[in-house]
Amino acid sequence: MAGDKRPCMYWDYIKIEELLSLQSGQAADETGVSNDEVRFIVVHQIDELWMKLILRELEEARNLFRLDYVPESSLASASAALRRVAQIFELAGNHFKLMETMRTQDYLRFRDKLFPASGFQSGQMREIEILLGLTVDKRVPLGEEESFEAALYEADGSPSKSLERVSKRRAEGPSLKEVVYRWLYRTPIHGSSPSSPGDDGVVTGFVADFLERLEAGQKKRMSDSLESQALTEGDQDRLRGRYEAELVSARKFLEAKEIEDPDKAHRTRRLRAAILFIDSNRQLPLLSWPCEIVDDLIAAEQSMLIFRQRHARMVERVIGRRVGTGGSAGVEYLDRTALELRVFEEIWATRTMLMNPDHAPPVQKAEYYGLNSG
Ligand code: HEM
Repeated sequence: MAGDKRPCMYWDYIKIEELLSLQSGQAADETGVSNDEVRFIVVHQIDELWMKLILRELEEARNLFRLDYVPESSLASASAALRRVAQIFELAGNHFKLMETMRTQDYLRFRDKLFPASGFQSGQMREIEILLGLTVDKRVPLGEEESFEAALYEADGSPSKSLERVSKRRAEGPSLKEVVYRWLYRTPIHGSSPSSPGDDGVVTGFVADFLERLEAGQKKRMSDSLESQALTEGDQDRLRGRYEAELVSARKFLEAKEIEDPDKAHRTRRLRAAILFIDSNRQLPLLSWPCEIVDDLIAAEQSMLIFRQRHARMVERVIGRRVGTGGSAGVEYLDRTALELRVFEEIWATRTMLMNPDHAPPVQKAEYYGLNSG
């Protein structure tokens, strides 16, 4: 009967009693557990809850991009989800301030009992990486031989619940990167889609025009720099070398020269050209959502990288450069993850190439993108 329904009480709904009983670590209760240790546990728990929310947002964004046709209304929702991911990582990173109120000796009072427990065993962090699209070959190894998954087994060798979730996440696929890149790949370039006759020619023409303008701009900047400074010959050579390397790497990237498989290279070339086209043509109404999404992806990944970096600086302050409880090289390992792990590499790389819009290749068929010439 409807009248039998219990009224909703705050303590029941939020599960307050259960929640407050979870901070004793391995002890039966909190008696004898220091404030530092309870704070250490609470911050980890809060961050795991933030990760839970991040996973939900990423999953929503991934599901929206999974379709062959992604309507504009979905793009708004995906954008909001990605912006939330960025916000949450920022909030989580801010918690490290609280960790830093713990002096080294205070941590050392309870650190020895943690071995081999470590944030390295956070299954949710791995799930986030997998869902975003970080592939195994990109991972920074903890030691040199075993994958990160080795750390997710129980002491008796059985798989932990965390490992089960990580494996399920990997098996389920696809990643956000895969589906977003499929969508970006389809972007019309100068009005031409992958299925349009002559699309290859249009894409190649756009890239060639872009590179030519990039080179002209580079040459001008380089000669301006060389003329306006009294540099030694060695420094002049180094500066020239830097500009030239930038151009070589732009060309290699846009021609996808590092990919051997011709089919994959062809798809990658179109994807990279599409990202460059979108990012270079922010003024086109039809591209405003794609521009937004590209920005949101970068913002989400940037805030995850800042979280990693912030964690590393907190760790360095609290324990210096000693070996981590999980057995890694500690700060050295963490710094590598912040520097080397990139999911949306194509989007980051494009930022090096963008040019002053006055010098960029003019858009052909601008009316197709909703630009009113009148
Ligand atoms: C005093 C506090 C902390 C110290 C000294 C510390 C130290 C470390 C160290 C040294 C590692 C590298 C793996 C290892 O060898 O153990 C690590 C990994 C990690 N920690 Fe912390 N940590 C602290 C607090 C936190 C907090 C509050 C979180 C929030 C969830 C966290 C999340 C992580 C994660 C996710 C990793 C894995 C990073 C990766 O492999 O990508 N840590 N931590």
